[in-house]
Formats: sequence, C-alpha cells, structure tokens
Amino acid sequence: MTVSQLAFIGAGNMASAIIGGLVRQGFDPVNIIAADPNAESLAKLARATGVTTTIDNSVALEHASTVVLAVKPQVMKQVLTPVSGLLESNKPLLISIAAGIRAESLSAWAGPLPVVRCMPNTPALVGLGMTVLYANAAVTPAQREQAERILGAVGQTQWTDDEGLLDAVTAVSGSGPAYFFLVMEAMQAAAEQLGLSPADARQLVVQTARGAAELAASSPESTTQLRINVTSPGGTTERALAVLESAGLRDSFQKALMAACERSRELADQLGK
Ligand SMILES: NC(=O)c1ccc[n+]([C@@H]2O[C@H](COP(=O)([O-])OP(=O)(O)OC[C@H]3O[C@@H](n4cnc5c(N)ncnc54)[C@H](OP(=O)(O)O)[C@@H]3O)[C@@H](O)[C@H]2O)c1
Repeated sequence: MTVSQLAFIGAGNMASAIIGGLVRQGFDPVNIIAADPNAESLAKLARATGVTTTIDNSVALEHASTVVLAVKPQVMKQVLTPVSGLLESNKPLLISIAAGIRAESLSAWAGPLPVVRCMPNTPALVGLGMTVLYANAAVTPAQREQAERILGAVGQTQWTDDEGLLDAVTAVSGSGPAYFFLVMEAMQAAAEQLGLSPADARQLVVQTARGAAELAASSPESTTQLRINVTSPGGTTERALAVLESAGLRDSFQKALMAACERSRELADQLGK
C-alpha cells in the first residue's frame, strides 16, 4: 500500500467505469483502493483493473489523499458520519458523484474538507460521459486538476462556480440520455409501423442518433444550421419537422427540463437532512 492513494467508496457501475478509464489512461492501479460491501463486485473490479479492494471503508480512507464518493445518495450520510474523525484528521479531497447531495451537506457529515461535487451521466459507462464539477472554497488548484483528471477519464468535463446550476445540469445532461432514448424508442416504433423489422429499425435509429451527435460534435455549425442543412424546401424532412413543431415539441422540452430542475432542487433539500 502506498502512502498517498486515490480511494473509491462504493465500487458500483460509476466507480468501476471511472477506475477502468483511469487505468486505461495510464493511472497506476497500485495507487487506487476501492471499498464496497459487495465482495463479488470487488473481486470483479480487482480482476479487471488490478486495483486493491476492501470491504472496510476505513481501510480505504487510511492513506487516501483523494476520495471519490460513489455510493447512492440515500446512503451518503450513513457512509460519511462514522468516518468523519478519520477524514478530519487526514483532510483528503472529497469528490462526490452522488446526484443531489450539496457540498454543504457533505461538509456537515464529513467535516470541513475540500469538496468537489460532480454531476456525471450514464454515457460515462462507455467513456462518453458529460460531467459538470463544482468546487467549494477549500479546494486548491492542484485538487481541481486532480478532480478534472478523474472525471475526465470517462468523458468531457466542465466547471461551474455556481453550485445552484447543478440542478439545471442535472435536468440537461444528467437526465438527458433518457430524453434521447425516448426519442429513439418513439422513432423505432414508428419505423416498425412503416414496415421495418425491429432489428433493422433499431440499427437505423441508433446509428442515425450516433451520426447526428458526432456531426454536431465535430461541426463548427450550430445545431440550428445543421437542421436547416438537412431540410430541403418541400422535402420529406420539412414535412416531418412541421408535424413535430405543431405538436409543441419545443414547448414540451422546455417544460420537461424545468420540471427536472425543480425535482433536482426538491431531492437535494430532502437528501441534505
Ligand atoms: N449511474 C449514473 O448514470 C449516474 C449518473 C450521475 C450520478 N450518479 C451517481 O453515482 C453514484 C453511484 O451510482 P452507480 O450507478 O454507480 O450505483 P451502484 O452501481 O449502485 O454503486 C453504488 C455502490 O455502492 C455500494 N455501497 C452501498 N453501501 C455502501 C457503503 N456503506 N459503503 C461503501 N459502498 C457502499 C453498493 O453496494 P450494494 O450494491 O451492495 O448496495 C454499490 O456497489 C450515485 O450516487 C448516483 O447518484 C450515477
């Protein structure tokens, strides 16, 4: 065991994805320790990445200079409270990926520590995540870099100085994959009604979504311009878009994201108690 380690508390889907990304990018697994009550998932993680594992959170925290909190939000308080003494004496950087737990709540449970709160999303599982990070006043520039490197191992990162904006981020990129899945689901059903087989419909829709995302990511043009580029006057796309516009798609998205943002605030209020 080294004297300065990166510890993960909770070794589920997100932690495993981040650890896998770090190791693939050359981070030495010798410097990573993961704690989780589930011995089976620890064994799988150790086999896949070569990291050290433990079922005891205190063991993972003993020599950690950075701690990634990757447990479900509902158990965060019960995870931090018993180890607050250890954390206060070692003073590691805490990086929480738990949805809806404010930095203030983490400090209340763990002690006055440097805290980076992040909002990742599920495409992190395939290295295409989008994570927004917020640092409290105790975080040093070197610790910001460390947090960015860790979350950058599974996708793109952005910083915000306004923690309140993480509720909007949750509504956009946190919940966002589900909106695209719904659109894909609806397009697949319509494609099947038009006579395509389920397998062919799935391939057409998924590859089109992937291609559209890649085109938007690699093009200097706005998404508005990209839409205009594929909409010939009097053509098929124009006819389809007119139906979607008249059904109020834009208004629905605006209302949907506002509702998600509001729910994120409510959850943070509940989870902070
Ligand atoms: N998945 C996402 O897309 C996503 C997106 C944004 C944010 N997040 C956040 O990421 C966090 C982790 O999500 P996930 O999808 O990776 O969940 P997960 O797969 O359920 O992983 C959480 C792990 O924590 C373990 N655990 C439970 N109690 C513990 C304790 N007292 N000490 C240590 N470990 C404990 C769980 O073990 P058991 O299974 O045995 O309980 C589980 O292996 C959540 O807070 C979530 O809000 C996830």
